[in-house]
Amino acid sequence: MLVLGIETSCDETGVALYDTENGLVADALHSQVDLHAVYGGVVPEIASRDHVRMLLPLIQRVMSDAGVDKPDAIAYTAGPGLVGALMVGGGMAAGLGLAWDCPVVPVHHMEGHLVAPMLEDTPPQFPFLALLVSGGHSMLIAVRAFGDYRLLGTTLDDAVGEAFDKTAKLLGLGYPGGPALAALAEDGDENAYDFPRPMLNKPNFDFSFSGLKTAVMLEVRKAEAAGKLANRKADLAASFQRAAVDTLVAKSLRAARAEGLERVVVAGGVGANRLLRHEMAARFEGEVYYPRLAFCTDNGAMIAVAGALRLAEAGEASEIRAQPRWSLESLGVPA
Ligand code: KG4
Ligand code: ZN
Repeated sequence: MLVLGIETSCDETGVALYDTENGLVADALHSQVDLHAVYGGVVPEIASRDHVRMLLPLIQRVMSDAGVDKPDAIAYTAGPGLVGALMVGGGMAAGLGLAWDCPVVPVHHMEGHLVAPMLEDTPPQFPFLALLVSGGHSMLIAVRAFGDYRLLGTTLDDAVGEAFDKTAKLLGLGYPGGPALAALAEDGDENAYDFPRPMLNKPNFDFSFSGLKTAVMLEVRKAEAAGKLANRKADLAASFQRAAVDTLVAKSLRAARAEGLERVVVAGGVGANRLLRHEMAARFEGEVYYPRLAFCTDNGAMIAVAGALRLAEAGEASEIRAQPRWSLESLGVPA
């Protein structure tokens, strides 16, 4: 069965065709980064308008790359995300579903991230621990089966991607900051600053990154006052990244041990971070799975895969779902 996946929850328009027998057939992505960069963050209205502009051409490109006239089903991100942006994908999916007379499946964006490693040659088997780290979420989840999710821990304040982005902004790196900060960190000394490893002394699996961000801010101000910021940026970036990654890895190892889980899946935009990928693989005794770099950040392929697994939940094409807030645990195992 051929599933068309549509992702428009934030600032990337992603489209893909996924064959349940043969895997990924075609995919295309349009990033809006340049449009939002001047504002230092995502402007929802601009995001929606650009999805309107780009979505249909991307669908046409993917269909023509694959030599396909119509898919067997359509999956779209129904939430969480920016409501206007979500409605563009939902509206397009509903319209095409009516035109093509095929089922339309609303997909939870974070379930998409969670199943992204299933696009790789060696997909993870259940059960596993999932560390989902993106711009909006930091979650540790015990995954017993597709749809069987128990939230073990989450962020009490900023998501880790958000912490990367805000710290990057402090360092004058622009938007989106995560990849830029990681690149700058390559040239820095990660031991230059002893930043806090937030919440590591707490027995739970929750995260908090605002204290770490504040600690960086204080050091930025100090370096600025001393006229030395330019020379210190790489060290600040490297020391921040080390503290954030140490926290993520340590909590993941602890959660895996507590739950008796021998596999870890790392997914979401921050899953593209090289230090995180390296440290998790080096320190976790079991198997570690990631999506390829391009499928860590938002994309249509992960939505197509999640949609294929949730086909039973296809609704009426006329029902457009857009849920800015939506709990992953509420999804349940498909019938
Ligand atoms: O999953 P994603 O594309 O969108 C959301 O669902 O939020 O994640 C985007 C987040 C941004 O905060 C971005 O800065 C971060 O992922 N990110 C990174 C890296 N690449 C993307 N953070 C750290 N290191 C990276 N290499
Ligand atoms: Zn995402």
